Amino acid sequence: MYMKVLCFGSLNIDYVYTVDHMVRQGETLLSSSVTMNCGGKGLNQSVALARAGVSVWHAGMVGQDGKPLIDKCISNGINADYIGMTQGRSGHTIIQVDKNGDNSIVLFGGANRSITDEFIDEVLSRFDKDDIIILQNEINLLDAIIEKAWKKGMTIILNPSPYDDALDSCDLSKVSVFILNEIEGEQMTGSADPGEIVSRIHQKYPSSKIVLTLGEAGSLYLDGDSILRQSSYKVRAVDTTAAGDTFTGYFVSSLINGEAPSACLDKASAAAAITVTRPGALDSIPVMNEVMEFQR
Ligand code: RIB
Repeated sequence: MYMKVLCFGSLNIDYVYTVDHMVRQGETLLSSSVTMNCGGKGLNQSVALARAGVSVWHAGMVGQDGKPLIDKCISNGINADYIGMTQGRSGHTIIQVDKNGDNSIVLFGGANRSITDEFIDEVLSRFDKDDIIILQNEINLLDAIIEKAWKKGMTIILNPSPYDDALDSCDLSKVSVFILNEIEGEQMTGSADPGEIVSRIHQKYPSSKIVLTLGEAGSLYLDGDSILRQSSYKVRAVDTTAAGDTFTGYFVSSLINGEAPSACLDKASAAAAITVTRPGALDSIPVMNEVMEFQR
């Protein structure tokens, strides 16, 4: 059966500053370069899915300055019919990337926070039972989207990132697959131990599959009673921005293709490893051929 894939999420304009170290409280720090790129966890994940070969629909909201974000979708082969344009500014971020390639992000939600119930209904009316919806936590009304998508019988995949109070109002038992990193795992469960994180999420949501990414330490996958561990590919990181989004997009693409969980983890890890060797968010995401070549 033909299944449609909808990524309902944020589109941001990222202002990326290269710095020696993350700016400290009270400090003024000179940046050696600045770039303005398209990003947002939602858009990055749509691009990763598209570059992995999945036909993807993106839904979300941009502001009056959002044409480049829509153009980016279209140039990546993403269906942009369900991206609305509202008054005011698009979401944007200030991203510091330090000399180790690590980042810290300040996010202004902008148009991403203007999702309405009517808009959700309109978008979801184009999708059916068993279609897949991929969500993150940078847009408003996430609880309503989960509720409405679940009522339709869609398969819900959630990357609970960034982790904040909005997730407390969501019925997460309706999520089929959680994909999160160790920081979000600790925020969600109160434990910093990877095994404990997946086991606590599993106790609370026993029918959900869980993917926990651990940076250089690889990833963990839990489904029912079985746990898989996957090591990461060792590369020299230039910029880790969008590594998690790349992992999510590639993991979901492999899942859709019916690959075994270990193969899904391996492909997602390889794709994320390539992403961290390149500067930027969305533009650093590889296409499938590059990932397969890297795996060889
Ligand atoms: O995950 C990376 C993304 O997080 C960036 O592109 C930025 O927009 C923030 O949303």
